[in-house]
Amino acid sequence: MQGEHAGLLDENVEDQPGAPPAIRVRHLWHRYGNFDVLRDVSFEVGHGEIFGFIGPNGAGKTTTISIMATLLEPMAGRVEIDGIDVAIDPDEVRKLIGYMPDHAGVYDRISVREYLEFFADAFRVENIGVVDAVIELTDLGNLQTRLVSALSKGMKQRLQLARILLHDPKVLILDEPASDLDPRARIEIRDLLLELRELGKTVFLSSHILTELSDVCTSVGILEKGQLVIAGPIGEIAERLESRSRAAAHGHVEPASPAAVAAVAGSAAVAGGAAVAGGAPGSAGRSTQGGTAIPGTATKRLKLKVLGDARQVIPLVEGGGGVVAVEATAGGQVIISHTGGDRFIADVVRHLVGHGVMLVGVEPERNELERIFLEYTRGDLQ
Ligand SMILES: Nc1ncnc2c1ncn2[C@@H]1O[C@H](COP(=O)(O)OP(=O)(O)OP(=O)(O)O)[C@@H](O)[C@H]1O
Ligand SMILES: [Mg+2]
Repeated sequence: MQGEHAGLLDENVEDQPGAPPAIRVRHLWHRYGNFDVLRDVSFEVGHGEIFGFIGPNGAGKTTTISIMATLLEPMAGRVEIDGIDVAIDPDEVRKLIGYMPDHAGVYDRISVREYLEFFADAFRVENIGVVDAVIELTDLGNLQTRLVSALSKGMKQRLQLARILLHDPKVLILDEPASDLDPRARIEIRDLLLELRELGKTVFLSSHILTELSDVCTSVGILEKGQLVIAGPIGEIAERLESRSRAAAHGHVEPASPAAVAAVAGSAAVAGGAAVAGGAPGSAGRSTQGGTAIPGTATKRLKLKVLGDARQVIPLVEGGGGVVAVEATAGGQVIISHTGGDRFIADVVRHLVGHGVMLVGVEPERNELERIFLEYTRGDLQ
């Protein structure tokens, strides 16, 4: 998947001072009957970002997306795409966005190429080379004569992405683009999203599965029961968790700062960390509490693999600074829940090796998004 994509290329778009962001959502409310589905949701997505909109079923993701895609009018608040208000100028917004709904139907009895040519006509795309460019970009070249009905789910998803690229939109809005896809198809979609970002597109995608595509996101927003819990660049949020964790270790818990891109009402309250304070969730085996579990800190997990009985590690580690809990599993694994950083890990390794433990694996928790999610949500799924 490389080469020229004539007519598809936006030059890399940088945020210019004063230029509107790709997406701006301000104090958005929506109600079905007498049920507030969205409650004062605010966030921004910069140009060239891949923004993951994460939340459990029923959180209000599709409702937000439908408003962004001009299919639903906001009841209160504003949504702007590249500075254009969706309620004031929906036609203009439609030219700027490529929207992929969560359950897109496809016309079955035509070929992949016919399908794309049909939509290119419908979108009044003048450039005859665009269909070819889109087929190349989405790697559908070998499938272009195949009937749409004979495509796998992953291929259909790529075809949907191809369709929404035909009019060269600046902002892609994808509702659960990877749900139901197998790992290979997911990786293909992920690579395609990265390629689209290189082409200067902004990508907004929703997901209720935390790890799904999370590694491609540059920023995330977490929605829970119609309220945005936190939003911002992943690194920035992780840093805030670190500094709160350090502050808490010194006996002073800072509330979650509202200074990130948009942390709206309730964020400080939900940062209580109930989901993490109890140590490793869902883990089995012997568990001992050591040190002081500090509610509200970012607890991370460090997985160790040792030769011999893993339980030998417990007395060597528990009670140590930064250690929240230690547990040993039958498979020779030790899981240390802790509040430390890389230095903590290095110290643990040195300490254990110094005591003759035959350490064969050290695996710090890497999924920052998972940690952010646990830290900032209450686990109240509606
Ligand atoms: N047309 C509608 N009429 C009434 N209630 C609706 C309608 N559409 C959605 N809802 C309700 O609004 C809430 C949010 O729905 P929404 O589809 O936005 O959530 P979601 O985050 O996209 O969930 P999922 O992960 O299941 O797709 C849910 O409680 C849902 O039942
Ligand atoms: Mg949805």
